[in-house]
Amino acid sequence: MKTTSSHGHHHHTASLCTPYLLLVPLGLLAVLLVLPTLTSPNARSDDLGVLCAGIDAYSVSTGADEKDAAASDAAGSSEFSLLVGVLTMPSRRERRDIVRMAYALQPPATAARVDVRFVFCNVTDPVEAALVAVEARLHGDILVLNCTENMNDGKTHEYLSSVPRRFAAEPYDYVMKTDDDTYLRVAALAEELRGKPREDVYLGHGFAVGDDPMQFMHGMGYVVSWDVARWVSENEEILRHNDTHGPEDLLVGKWLNIGGKGKNRYSLKPRMYDLGWFMDNFRPDTIAVHMLKDNRRWAATFRYFNVTAGIKPSDLYHLP
Ligand SMILES: *[C@@H]1O[C@H](CO)[C@@H](O)[C@H](O)[C@H]1NC(C)=O
Ligand SMILES: *[C@@H]1O[C@H](CO)[C@@H](O)[C@H](O)[C@H]1NC(C)=O
Ligand SMILES: *[C@@H]1O[C@H](CO)[C@@H](O)[C@H](O)[C@H]1NC(C)=O
Ligand SMILES: *[C@@H]1O[C@H](CO)[C@@H](O)[C@H](O)[C@H]1NC(C)=O
Repeated sequence: MKTTSSHGHHHHTASLCTPYLLLVPLGLLAVLLVLPTLTSPNARSDDLGVLCAGIDAYSVSTGADEKDAAASDAAGSSEFSLLVGVLTMPSRRERRDIVRMAYALQPPATAARVDVRFVFCNVTDPVEAALVAVEARLHGDILVLNCTENMNDGKTHEYLSSVPRRFAAEPYDYVMKTDDDTYLRVAALAEELRGKPREDVYLGHGFAVGDDPMQFMHGMGYVVSWDVARWVSENEEILRHNDTHGPEDLLVGKWLNIGGKGKNRYSLKPRMYDLGWFMDNFRPDTIAVHMLKDNRRWAATFRYFNVTAGIKPSDLYHLP
């Protein structure tokens, strides 16, 4: 059933309790800060595909995948690259570990080089800073933006506009923004992107605003091509108009519509969707399932997608 778009969107924002959904203006274009440990030799960006470096050493079943990924990368066989930024907060440590496992235990995307990063604003609390530093040291998958972590902080704008500068030397083909309550199936997404243009792309779960045919993409996860991210980064009109204030996903669509960008626009509905109340609407061809707001929902997701089934038999544990 179709809801009217304004109602639909209202419902959707209300249901997303993530604190970074609403944004406030930023005075300046700010610079993406990467924790220094990210540059340590065992945590280089190339090591960090879907298979997050570090964690594999501790998991039961990703060794082979990691070798495959390394081999395919060494062969230079990837057709394109994708940066996935999972917007989260320092305090959501347990969730982040679950999401990290979810990425690490996926089959690699054969056509793509995919780097997953957990994205914060400034980590100001000294306790959190110490724990995040250790986390970054182990996993090498942390990005810290120059913004203040709060309800209304323009974080998505900061992310999309910082990334083209931070990775200017090694641009990706696509940049994705997603959240820590989304299970993203990277190989399925990569398969979709494979045949798409590399430029002027805006892809996700589309929402129409009124009868505007130019949909915006739901904040559960959307992809823009590098040129679009660069355009956001260079477009001072967005900040001049104080247009980083409000539902981030709708605003991204608005900027692109005003700028005539993202004309290659694709909605992956129904393969990107919200998990329903009864957790009974999983689909085998899922690209992303959203609203995984508690461990019960993550458990159901891991079971449905057979992530749990990959466990090797052992005398050392028995898990129902
Ligand atoms: C970070 O943002 C603050 C406030 O907007 C600004 O004063 C500062 O110069 C920025 N820092 C960097 C490294 O860009
Ligand atoms: C974030 O932290 C950096 C380094 O401590 C500081 O220069 C910057 O002003 C902070 N930015 C904001 C927006 O708080
Ligand atoms: C930007 O918009 C917000 C909310 O609409 C408002 O509180 C703030 O004062 C505005 N800032 C500027 C510089 O206009
Ligand atoms: C999980 O495994 C079962 C048994 O092999 C299979 O029937 C099912 O299709 C798998 N589910 C998914 C989502 O791949």
